[in-house]
Amino acid sequence: MLSSFQDILSRSSIFRDRNVLSLHYIPSTLPHREKEINNIMSAISPALKGEKPRSIFIYGKTGTGKTSSVKYVMERFEEMKSERARMCYVNCRMYNTRYRVFHKLMKDSIPEYAKTGYGLSFFYEKLIDLLDSGGTNLIIVLDEVDMVKDLDDLIYTLTRANDDLKKGGSSIIGISNRLSFKDNLDPRSKSTLYETEMVFPPYTSNQLKSILDQRVKLGFSEAAVDESAINLAAAIAAQDNGDARYALKLILRAGEIVDEEGAGVVSEKHVNAARRSVDEDVSIEAISTLPQHQQIVLYSIATLSMDGGRYSKLTGNTDNYLLSGEVYENYLKNARNLRKEPRSSRWYREYLNELEMLGLINTVESGKGMRGHTRLIKIAYSPTKVRSIIERIMLE
Ligand SMILES: Nc1ncnc2c1ncn2[C@@H]1O[C@H](COP(=O)(O)OP(=O)(O)O)[C@@H](O)[C@H]1O
Ligand SMILES: [Mg+2]
Repeated sequence: MLSSFQDILSRSSIFRDRNVLSLHYIPSTLPHREKEINNIMSAISPALKGEKPRSIFIYGKTGTGKTSSVKYVMERFEEMKSERARMCYVNCRMYNTRYRVFHKLMKDSIPEYAKTGYGLSFFYEKLIDLLDSGGTNLIIVLDEVDMVKDLDDLIYTLTRANDDLKKGGSSIIGISNRLSFKDNLDPRSKSTLYETEMVFPPYTSNQLKSILDQRVKLGFSEAAVDESAINLAAAIAAQDNGDARYALKLILRAGEIVDEEGAGVVSEKHVNAARRSVDEDVSIEAISTLPQHQQIVLYSIATLSMDGGRYSKLTGNTDNYLLSGEVYENYLKNARNLRKEPRSSRWYREYLNELEMLGLINTVESGKGMRGHTRLIKIAYSPTKVRSIIERIMLE
């Protein structure tokens, strides 16, 4: 039966305002980040008095509120309507080179000059003129700063701006969830970027609960979500790196599941179902970004698991472990069918390590008795689903 837009729009929903649960929504207060927000505000407040603030580097795992906290501070900063200071937000996932970052700064400062035909030095000169003439302090937020390919060059240019300016200045708020990229930086960039360092710790289960409480009140109809469901979502996300984004996704998806069922209250059952569904989305993303030979190895594991491997048949075990050797044979066959030159078994073992690290498979060493030691492999998700995901990718 075909449904009309009217039908769809008039379907009842337990959401009051779904938007509140979206990733882009910034709540009017950010519980458990008061201290961090205060620290950022104090660090950049000199700019409002016409002084150059120190640079800040913010580190913390995904979903610890880094982006939201800085955006919150930006909103308060803009309310000050300062003539001497400006903040500019750059998402480096999108603007991932020095040139692109400068292009974005131009777009926000002097849009009529933001043509990609212009070179970096043109953007640079214009920006310097602008800051100089207003004595402006520019605070540049570089979110996911580790994504910038020529980060040393970018930091160098932004630092040099301070030498070229007679009045005004530029400083950086760098944000990242990776610590290791620091090792590859030039010592000079490092000392600029790490003038002040702030760490955002993962949220505890109780903290996540109050974050969820706040959003559930705004986003769902009254009494639409059981407290036990909130507790469960908070506990799951606390175990998974204290990630508020994951907690919010779980509650949003749980609400969608209730809507699909037609009616009801969000309970633990729905949160558990939401977890499976959210995790599956993650695995689809993980699988589709795998290098091709790893996809073929995973495909071989999925198809063998569906038939039940030799190990299960030999031992009568029903836990669906596969022998590393039979998976490799199957991989050789599948690679040849796809007209790909198969990789050596040394590479194959590396692939297994990668797949295991991504949580797509689990492996154990077999006990004695099985022709010496061998690695036993088990797929972490439904083999039918994994197979169809990979088939879809390969047909593209
Ligand atoms: N303290 C908080 N209070 C309310 N919501 C939060 C808080 N911290 C994070 N969130 C929410 O969690 C999600 C992820 O936060 P985000 O700032 O994007 O994390 P990060 O940038 O550290 O990965 C966002 O939807 C945000 O609204
Ligand atoms: Mg972020």
